[in-house]
Amino acid sequence: MPTLSILKADTGGYVGHSAVHPAMVAEAVRRIDRARGDLLLDGTVATCGDDLSLIMTHEHGPDAAAVHSFAWDTFHATTGVARDFGLYGAGQDLLSDAFSGNLRGMGPGYAELEFTERPSEPVLCFLADKTEPGAWNLPLFRMFADPFTTPGLVMDAKMHAGFRFEVYDLYQEKRAVFDCPADMYDLLMYIGAPARYVVHSVTSKTRGVQAAATSTQRLSLIAGKYVGKDDPVMIVRCQSGMPAIGEALEPFALAYTVAGCMRGSHHAPLMPVPVGSAHPSRFDGPPRVVCLGFQISGGRLIGPRDMFDDPAFDRARAQANEIMDYLRRHGPFEPHRLSLDELEYTTMPALEERLADRWEPLPAAEPRVNPTE
Ligand code: 13P
Ligand code: 13P
Ligand code: MG
Ligand code: MG
Repeated sequence: MPTLSILKADTGGYVGHSAVHPAMVAEAVRRIDRARGDLLLDGTVATCGDDLSLIMTHEHGPDAAAVHSFAWDTFHATTGVARDFGLYGAGQDLLSDAFSGNLRGMGPGYAELEFTERPSEPVLCFLADKTEPGAWNLPLFRMFADPFTTPGLVMDAKMHAGFRFEVYDLYQEKRAVFDCPADMYDLLMYIGAPARYVVHSVTSKTRGVQAAATSTQRLSLIAGKYVGKDDPVMIVRCQSGMPAIGEALEPFALAYTVAGCMRGSHHAPLMPVPVGSAHPSRFDGPPRVVCLGFQISGGRLIGPRDMFDDPAFDRARAQANEIMDYLRRHGPFEPHRLSLDELEYTTMPALEERLADRWEPLPAAEPRVNPTE
């Protein structure tokens, strides 16, 4: 059974946090080329903003030590290139020196999905920059549970029973499964809070197979301090009992608001863009999402097709620019700035300590005496 793995890391930005240097991409491509036909069935390299993704098919299953250590070594090699060129935040996501079998808790993010290849296997790989894994909650709900987005839920007998959503609580390291449509309102109560509750996978109830996978690491929680947003990736299988390609893309026609953007500390619209436009610059944003489409055939990645390279998403891009203008004018005020408990920067504790003496109890209410009496 093949596995599709996207393993990704920010190993240095060019310029600032806006893109990956072509020499880093070339280094990753060289390593993938060497591994193809040996460790890997196939592989390709993609970027979104300053994040580098290794998109790979192989037969080692999810969380495989061989595949993860290959990615770990590759990210160290691209970090080497970044250091050489003095690129920004070289090795940003490589949080630990000691690799211990897989990338869990090590800094890089990954989404992996093992599947029996259908006669035709269309898959979408979504890569985002300047946001967090909870950013996939809204589109996943719309793809797999909302009949206004996905008419297949009503019309396709292979989808009609619905889908199961596996949700992670990132704060308490717990998970729960929600069965849609029955548990739809329960599910929304949780995943409407995407900083904490994140859809990790979606499974078809009819086919009993996995349809979607996301990356769920939260770097800030791993590192205990702000080191950059854990820009997420997602895999969605399409057609024949899964959402059609067009149903899976439809949620991105709305430039919905996510957390991230400048210093990972603001709300901003998510802009769907072609690969060549995935370079956040204005206010380190707006956050971007690209979508690479592949047909997988005998484990080979036929593609990618640049799925948001379509004028049908022009309005979402225009909408993102408008929302960006509107939110930016709020400057350091919420809800542009994230609420204090979500803020990635830790200025507040130091500030509270420094100004502790300045804060005094409110004056007690004293009875007013009228001076003329
Ligand atoms: P499938 O039944 O193969 O998913 O086809 C439906 C379709 O392509 C609608 O766009
Ligand atoms: P990245 O998470 O993409 O590195 O961005 C960090 C940042 O602070 C942008 O302003
Ligand atoms: Mg960065
Ligand atoms: Mg990034």
